[in-house]
Amino acid sequence: MSKRLTIGLFGFGVVGQGLNDIISTKELNIEIKKIAIKHPDKERALPSHLFTNRPNDILNDPEINTVIELINDADAAYQIVTQALKSGKNVVSANKKMIAEHLDELVDLQEKYNSSLLYEGAVCGSIPIIRNLEEYYDNELLHSVSGIFNGSSNFILSKIANESLDYSDALKQAQDLGFAEKDPILDVGGYDAKYKLVIAAAHAYGVLVKPEKVLNIGIQNFSVADLHFAQEHQLKIKLVPTAKKLDDNELALFVIPKLVPKSDFLYNVENEYNAVLVKAAFADQQLFYGKGAGGHPTGSAVLSDVAALRYDYRYEYKKYHLDKNLELQNDHIIPVYIRYNQERLINGIHFEFIAEQHKSIELNYMLGGVKISKLITKKKEILEDGAFLAQAGALTEKFEKIKRLSLEKS
Ligand SMILES: NC(=O)c1ccc[n+]([C@@H]2O[C@H](COP(=O)([O-])OP(=O)(O)OC[C@H]3O[C@@H](n4cnc5c(N)ncnc54)[C@H](OP(=O)(O)O)[C@@H]3O)[C@@H](O)[C@H]2O)c1
Repeated sequence: MSKRLTIGLFGFGVVGQGLNDIISTKELNIEIKKIAIKHPDKERALPSHLFTNRPNDILNDPEINTVIELINDADAAYQIVTQALKSGKNVVSANKKMIAEHLDELVDLQEKYNSSLLYEGAVCGSIPIIRNLEEYYDNELLHSVSGIFNGSSNFILSKIANESLDYSDALKQAQDLGFAEKDPILDVGGYDAKYKLVIAAAHAYGVLVKPEKVLNIGIQNFSVADLHFAQEHQLKIKLVPTAKKLDDNELALFVIPKLVPKSDFLYNVENEYNAVLVKAAFADQQLFYGKGAGGHPTGSAVLSDVAALRYDYRYEYKKYHLDKNLELQNDHIIPVYIRYNQERLINGIHFEFIAEQHKSIELNYMLGGVKISKLITKKKEILEDGAFLAQAGALTEKFEKIKRLSLEKS
């Protein structure tokens, strides 16, 4: 028998209103009792008695047993969510930044206060990936979880490659269509994708990692020269967050663009669409594909969490509790393409191996293997140089040749 939920909703913006549209079409034994917003004078589509700008009207109401947090302020969201969990209320949130930054504490709070926090809408909008990683792949050996987690960056890359738009026009279109965050660096700098990766990794591998430990370099320096390089090699450029199990004790997590070959499931993911690619020992490759943002797609994921709370569903963080040995490893070497401007940048990056260096008036680039930790320490210089970097594992021929040569030498 499902439990009746009395809901306090925080936020009535894109997702809050999307959720309300969906809820009003269903008979779900749930009631939205109060909606907290920031600006009380804004015109609303629902009766004014439902709204408040005092968080405690929800947080201190003993009748409200479920809080849905859908605001655009991660610090305020943290206060709301922690206070709600501490008072035993169950919570649904879509705030990836807040969740990624405080996941260890949020896991502890749920256990201590016997409350549940669900956040399917925080990772790739409508794609049901968190509960699948938590439940469906409970006993699978996952080699990697990667994908296209940020719709705005993918939209920009698609528009440049397929419609020859320039970067700023493509970004403006993404903003006009409502895909982009207010501060575009969160999208194009790979921060949004990183928050989602950190959350996904907690459920895929049971590893709770602080986002500041994870490399993120985005598409902010992407240029037509990079596009031409990719096209010459029949590749596409995508921003791909990657979680990769290295061995029983080590996991690599990083967000950088990737040169993607036709054979890759991510090759045909275009525009604002998101995809999560799971590579597993037994299930092999599986692709989850869908809309990563928007009021109704994200609202549908939030609603699914709310519906699950009617049956007291909670994440058990089974992998986190079972396997405490797996740790983030930033010494992992990734094969990269780096297009650069200043020679001193490339001289300052310690390459573990070099596959090719190209210098011409039009284009300087290096293909080689670099430790993630090196890229973290050089990130500021890479970005200041205007350099563009992408995973280049797809250029296997060039890298294989190097491996062969070094094997022959040794
Ligand atoms: N938009 C998407 O497609 C999408 C997809 C996935 C996840 N998310 C996440 O979902 C959350 C909401 O995003 P959104 O796009 O719906 O945001 P939004 O359209 O900007 O709306 C934000 C809402 O939060 C309210 N608000 C802000 N600060 C508040 C506070 N301190 N107390 C109470 N209400 C407050 C605002 O009130 P006023 O109306 O009074 O200004 C507004 O109603 C964010 O965490 C976002 O990252 C969004």
